[in-house]
Amino acid sequence: MKIAKSMAMGVIAISTLAYSCGGGSSSDSSSESSTTSSSAPAPAASQSLEDKYKDDPVFVAGSSKAKEAGCTACHMVERKIVGPSYADVAAKYENTQENVELLTSRVIKGNVGEWGEVPMPAHPHLDNSDVETIVKYVLLLKK
Ligand code: HEC
Repeated sequence: MKIAKSMAMGVIAISTLAYSCGGGSSSDSSSESSTTSSSAPAPAASQSLEDKYKDDPVFVAGSSKAKEAGCTACHMVERKIVGPSYADVAAKYENTQENVELLTSRVIKGNVGEWGEVPMPAHPHLDNSDVETIVKYVLLLKK
């Protein structure tokens, strides 16, 4: 009924709704009243891995190298896209020096069959120590 409320209000209300209830898209037009308190604390269960580890130096170093190296084209932290999510990789492999070396060499040489039929291409141009930095960051991302 309150369609004539200003556009700005509507935009804020919509983005607040989309952010806080993540999906219920039915047409509840009582948006006016939901813009009051903006400081409701996020429930712990929905904390992202990125939030959880954002201050860890391993995270800081590895995430920026992963972007530079283009890993982000196929990998996301918590969602499978072309390759497995980093969280899935971290859940599968213990964070040991042995696994860091194993995964580093698979990234550099390419790999297939561990997660399915889609191969990861080789990355022979990357520096071994840079890839290690990224792999350590990947294995850090445990829930
Ligand atoms: C073109 C897409 C693509 C790019 C770019 C890519 N990956 Fe992958 N990655 C994959 C796929 C697909 C798999 C699953 C391969 C398999 O099943 O063995 C994978 C698997 C992995 C694994 C798990 C390997 C295992 O043995 O379990 C790690 C770790 C990984 N990638 C890290 C990286 C890093 C670090 C980079 C950037 C240097 C990168 N990937 C770039 C597609 C990609």
